[in-house]
Amino acid sequence: MKDLYYILMYNRLGNAKQCKTFIRHGIVKVNDQTVTDPCYQVDDHDRILFDGKKVNSQPFIYIMMNKPKDYICANHDKKEKCVTDLISQKECFCLGRLDKDTTGLLILTNDKSLKKLLLPENHIHKQYYVETRKTLNQENIRQFQEGIIIDKNIRCLPAKMDICDDHHCFVTIEEGKYHQIKKMFLSVGNQVVSLKRITFAAVCLDNTLKEGESRNLTELEKNSLRALCR
Ligand code: URA
Repeated sequence: MKDLYYILMYNRLGNAKQCKTFIRHGIVKVNDQTVTDPCYQVDDHDRILFDGKKVNSQPFIYIMMNKPKDYICANHDKKEKCVTDLISQKECFCLGRLDKDTTGLLILTNDKSLKKLLLPENHIHKQYYVETRKTLNQENIRQFQEGIIIDKNIRCLPAKMDICDDHHCFVTIEEGKYHQIKKMFLSVGNQVVSLKRITFAAVCLDNTLKEGESRNLTELEKNSLRALCR
């Protein structure tokens, strides 16, 4: 469900203020009824008319990409290859950036309401598959659980480490500090060799996607993210 004025904005009918005003002036109909509440909740199936003309009730893009190495999470860059070079929809942003050498789950969208998910207070869980230079040990599990100190004096929130073998583990964090996983391993005297994001909230990387491939999020995946923004 989305606010009606938000749908008008994404149809480029005006900015937030203008779209709210249009609605209050009674020029918008939803399913043949005039609606004057800008925050009236509409869903993908509602028929919206703006001054008699049909409006796209699904103007939002939600893409899951298996990000390859060597692409940066940006829309334009003079020197680097950008993740948006890999998709046809250019007007979207990355929901949580990954480093140039990180692979895996990247969500791209034009739905700004999802930016809320990036706020640290929302504690959105992200899981990574990590390969390390040195051997992992049980003490690392405890250190991560306790909260690793990075950048000299910043304590990270507790993170969960599941060791797969001497050099591979899954790590789940609930914040998104700059280079966080790499810095956490450096703090315990180890180093990340490769990093792949596996999950973002309830959305899991589709393992049929090869690196560089993408697909639209399913309704279930979209709704799981939207539900966290309420
Ligand atoms: N932590 C990192 O260090 N890099 C990423 O790309 C994501 C999390």
